[in-house]
Amino acid sequence: MAQTNDIAIDLGTSNVVIYMKGRGIVFREPSVVAVDRETQNIIAFGLEAYRMIGRTPANVNVVRPLAQGELLDFDLTSAMLRYFVSSVVGKHLIARPRAVMAVPTGVKDMEKKALISTMFDAGVRRTQLLDKNIAAALGAQLNFLGPYGSLVVDISAGNTDLAVLYNSSVSVISSVHIGGDHFDDAIIRYLRKKYNMLIGERTAEQIKITLGGAVRRDPAVVMDITGRNLISGLPKTMSVESDEIYEAVLDQVNDLIEAVQVVVERTPPQLASDVFDSGVTLTGGGALLYGLAEAVGNALNIPCRVSPDARDCVVMGCARVLSDPSGMRHLLAHS
Ligand SMILES: Nc1ncnc2c1ncn2[C@@H]1O[C@H](COP(=O)(O)OP(=O)(O)O)[C@@H](O)[C@H]1O
Ligand SMILES: [Mg+2]
Repeated sequence: MAQTNDIAIDLGTSNVVIYMKGRGIVFREPSVVAVDRETQNIIAFGLEAYRMIGRTPANVNVVRPLAQGELLDFDLTSAMLRYFVSSVVGKHLIARPRAVMAVPTGVKDMEKKALISTMFDAGVRRTQLLDKNIAAALGAQLNFLGPYGSLVVDISAGNTDLAVLYNSSVSVISSVHIGGDHFDDAIIRYLRKKYNMLIGERTAEQIKITLGGAVRRDPAVVMDITGRNLISGLPKTMSVESDEIYEAVLDQVNDLIEAVQVVVERTPPQLASDVFDSGVTLTGGGALLYGLAEAVGNALNIPCRVSPDARDCVVMGCARVLSDPSGMRHLLAHS
């Protein structure tokens, strides 16, 4: 019998991650597309397109078609998904795989249907969608399949999804426009205001990862950064310290903490004690911001932790459903 390589997909606003049954994670590339400004022809997808950010010739536009957690550009998203999936699935015309996929919150029903057709074009026999909150919680191994409440906070590039799950379903749900990108933007604004220094988004992300924090780094970390001085117009290198970047992102961190607090307050009393006991679990790439769990936990006085392999929780949640289709069928969206 031909082997079918069933797949799980996290179609994220910043990264697409694909898991293949029996093989583990086989694909991870940025959700970006490089487009020719004049002809609108697609030049590159994924990593190749990402490498063009900030250094593209004037005629190339590098787009993140899923930015902000809503499908801003459906055609580009679809082209990118088809390209990624067909590169992983190959041409198994006889044994077409099945897929379980999570898409960003805010994707409309019509668009979901169209994405499922795109998957079919890419060689997938049947695609089922899994709610992203449920995927994140399953991937983080949270206890919510029975009568127990769990709070999961998935921090993407464009937004943060918060959910209290109970008895295999979503009890309280919220989504806010705060994510990794907003931290990057705050760093760009801070350096422009304080030093008249203009940096690109890739540099800002690097600064966030190396120097940023939701708590102060102790000992402090220093890094040389290169940007353009807005007054002279010339490139400039200067050193920046972690305490400065902590200050730069403080407002965004506080907004995130407030979003968690709102969800805790909206949690029905019978679940609140579970949430207080088991605490808050952070998933997604944005959860890796230094000290974030500590800052949330201290502010709300609830235990808070970052799930192991936070960036992979959504795809691994989809993979769990793939591996146990009968036991977890009830979790799948009806599509
Ligand atoms: N070590 C890190 N520290 C802080 N932020 C990080 C780190 N690693 C990744 N990120 C951020 O995580 C976000 C991407 O998370 P991810 O879950 O892959 O996104 P999405 O779900 O939108 O595809 C980006 O904003 C990225 O900068
Ligand atoms: Mg994610």
